[in-house]
Amino acid sequence: MLVERYLESLGSQAIETALHLGEPRPAIVRPTQDPKFGDFQLNGAMPLAKELNKPPREIAEPIANALRQLDAVERAEVAGPGFVNIHLAPQWLAARLTTTLRDTEREGVPVVERPLKTVVDFSGPNIAKQMHVGHLRSTIIGDAISRILAFMGHSVIRDNHLGDWGTQFGLLIVGMREWGSEEALEREPIAELERVYKLASERAKIEEAFAEQARAELVKLQAGDPDNRSLWEHFVEVSRRALDAVYAELGVEFDAWLGESAYHDALPGVVDDLLVRGIGREDDGAVCVFWNEIDGAPKALRKQKTPFIVRKNDGAFLYSTTDIATVLYRRDYFAADRALYIVDSRQGLHFQQLFALMKLLGVAMELEHIGFGTVLGKDGKPLRTRDASGKVTTLTSLLEESKQRARQRIEEGIAEGRLRVQPEEIDEVSRVVGIGSVKYADLRQNRLSDYQFDWDKMISFQGNAAPYLQYAYARCASIFAKGGLDMEVIGPDAEIVLEAPAEEVLGKRLMRFADVVYQAGATSQPHLICEHVYELARAFSGFYTECPVLDSEGVMRRSRLGLTALTARQIRRGLGLVGIGVVDRM
Ligand code: ARG
Repeated sequence: MLVERYLESLGSQAIETALHLGEPRPAIVRPTQDPKFGDFQLNGAMPLAKELNKPPREIAEPIANALRQLDAVERAEVAGPGFVNIHLAPQWLAARLTTTLRDTEREGVPVVERPLKTVVDFSGPNIAKQMHVGHLRSTIIGDAISRILAFMGHSVIRDNHLGDWGTQFGLLIVGMREWGSEEALEREPIAELERVYKLASERAKIEEAFAEQARAELVKLQAGDPDNRSLWEHFVEVSRRALDAVYAELGVEFDAWLGESAYHDALPGVVDDLLVRGIGREDDGAVCVFWNEIDGAPKALRKQKTPFIVRKNDGAFLYSTTDIATVLYRRDYFAADRALYIVDSRQGLHFQQLFALMKLLGVAMELEHIGFGTVLGKDGKPLRTRDASGKVTTLTSLLEESKQRARQRIEEGIAEGRLRVQPEEIDEVSRVVGIGSVKYADLRQNRLSDYQFDWDKMISFQGNAAPYLQYAYARCASIFAKGGLDMEVIGPDAEIVLEAPAEEVLGKRLMRFADVVYQAGATSQPHLICEHVYELARAFSGFYTECPVLDSEGVMRRSRLGLTALTARQIRRGLGLVGIGVVDRM
C-alpha cells in the first residue's frame, strides 16, 4: 500500500472536515526527518492560511484535530510554523502489515494505474572496443530501472543501442586485411579488433593513401558491398559474443538490439526532413541546426553557439542523426510513450539538443536523459580500464576479481566461524556475493555523484554493502530453517502485533516499501531502494537483538515470524529489483 498517498487522501478529507471549503484541497504528506517528531508530516496549512488570511497555526489546529479522529492516526500535533506531525497508530500499522504478509506476489506494492510503454536505452557499448566502466554503470543502472518499472506494471522495452556503425569500420576493414589474425579474432575478439584498429589509425595518420583506402572501404560498406558487409557482420558477431558473456555474468537481458547500424537507411530522410522544414540549414557543406536561429528553441539552447550537426561536410551522418531516427522509430514501431536514456552525464548537451529537436518535430513522446557520474579509482581520478603500463582490465576480469575476493572473504568468515557455507555451495555464494557487491557499490550511490571504486568497502559483511544485506537475508532464512518453517507459507492465523519498541521501528520501516519503490521508479533513482533495504536490515538487527523469535510463544511467536518473513521477502525483492541476488544459507 502507498502509505503517503493514502495519508494524503486522509489529509485532504481532514482539511475539508476542518475548514468546510466545499472542494477538496490537496495535502502533501512526507516522512519526517526525525522520528522524534512522528512518522509523517502534513504540509498544506501554510498556503491555506495565506489564502484564507489567517494565522497558519489557527488553520493547522482543526486539521490536526480532524486527523486525530482517524484509525490510522495515534497522535497529530501542530508544529513549527504550521506543519502537522502525524504519529501512526501501531494497531493500524500492524493490520496493514498482516495484509502485506499474505501478499507474497507483490509485497504490498500496487500496480500502476496508468502503465506507460517505456523504452529503456542502456548499456550501448561500442563494437570493436572494450566495454568501459561507463558502460558498466549504464548497464547496471539501466537494468535496475527496467526491473523497477516492470515490477510497477509499466511495459518496458530494454534496448541496447550498440555503437556498431561509424568511421572506425573503414579502418578495421583495411587493418584486418593487413594485420588481422583470424585465430586471435576467434579467441579474443575485442582485444584483436582493438589491436588492429590501433595499428590502422596510426598508419592512417602518417600515410594519406592508407587513410584514403579506409575511407573508400567505409563508403563501400555503407553502400552495401557484400564483402565488406560480411566482414563487418563478422566483427559485430564476435564482439556480441564477448558482450553476451558480460551480460550473462551480470544477469542482464535486452528485448531489442537495435544498434546504430539499424538506422542507417533512415538517415538521409531525417536530414532532408530537417531541411524541408527549415529547422536545419546548410553551412559550409554541413547540415546543422543553429539554435539561435530557431524561434521555438528553448531558452537554454538559444545561447548555444555550437550547432547540432546532423550531416558533416563530407556527407557522413553522425551520432546525433542516428539518435533522431531512433526516437522516430521508437515512436512509430514500438508505439512508446517514453524513452529513458541511461547515459553518462557528460552527454547532457547532446540529449538536451536531441530532445529539443524532437519537440520541434512534433514528437510527443516523453524523453528523459538519466545521467550518471564517473567511477573514480583509489587515486580519485576516473577509473581506467587500462593501467599505467597499458594493460587492459576488462570488465570480465573485473567481475572475475570480484568473485575471487568474495570467495576469500567467505573463506575467512567460515574459518572464523561467522559464516556457514557448505563446500559445494562456495562457488555459487561467491558468485552471488561478488557480482552483487559490484552492482550494489554502484547502485547505492545517487547516480549523479561520482563514486570511488574500493574493493574493501564494496565486499563487506559489516558496512553498507551487498554482503551485509545478503547476510541479513540468509539470517532470516535460517530462522525459518531452524524452526522447520517455510517463510513463503503463511498460516491463516498469522497476524502481526507490534508491542516492543524495536518491533514498532521494524514495522514502520517495512511499511515504507511500496512508497520507496514508487519513488525510485518515478525519479529513476535505484539508490532509494538500496537505502531502504539497508535501513530495513538495520531495523531487523535491532529487533532480533531485543525480541526472541523462535523462543517466544503463541501470538507473539507467530507475529515475530511474520515480521521476519516480511523482512526477508522485502530484502530479497528490494535487491531483486536492482538486479542483486540472495542465497538462503551463508
Ligand atoms: N554508444 C554510446 C556511447 O558509448 C552510448 C549510446 C547511448 N544511447 C543513445 N541512444 N545515444 O557513448
